[in-house]
Amino acid sequence: MREVAGRVLIDAARGVATNAHAPYSRFGVGAAVLLADGRIVTGANFENASYGLSLCAETVALATANSEGHLRDVVAIGVTGGRIESDGSIAGSALVTPCGRCRQIINEAAQLGGRDIDIYCGSADGGAFARFRASELLPHAFGPADLGLAD
Ligand code: THU
Repeated sequence: MREVAGRVLIDAARGVATNAHAPYSRFGVGAAVLLADGRIVTGANFENASYGLSLCAETVALATANSEGHLRDVVAIGVTGGRIESDGSIAGSALVTPCGRCRQIINEAAQLGGRDIDIYCGSADGGAFARFRASELLPHAFGPADLGLAD
């Protein structure tokens, strides 16, 4: 069941990665967040001419979940991406895993919701797939629980 949810999330992430605004890195990433009620919200990376201001796909998707009032209801997230080809398609055989900043932001949702969020990572070509837990990718995390804000 978990595996099926992961594949669905990676498929949704793959679909949205083509909407990435990534003209600088030419690396498109998509993320899909599963909420407790079964809904999926997505995000794509959103770069900026001032490179350091760029937003990752996972951050965009989690900010969307938050704006819908559901940051505490995040159950799982899927992420995939790769180089943007001249026809706009996304290519690559390597797993895309969340960057350090995104791991901290995933931890924010995990601790607020009292869940160890499943993080599914895939490659653009569909060949590679892996499941991690938030606590595995950011062990000994500092977060809202340390400030008395988690459930
Ligand atoms: N990127 C993401 O969107 N998520 C990640 O987890 C890794 C990196 C984006 C940031 C930048 O727009 C591009 O991929 C290359 O680093």
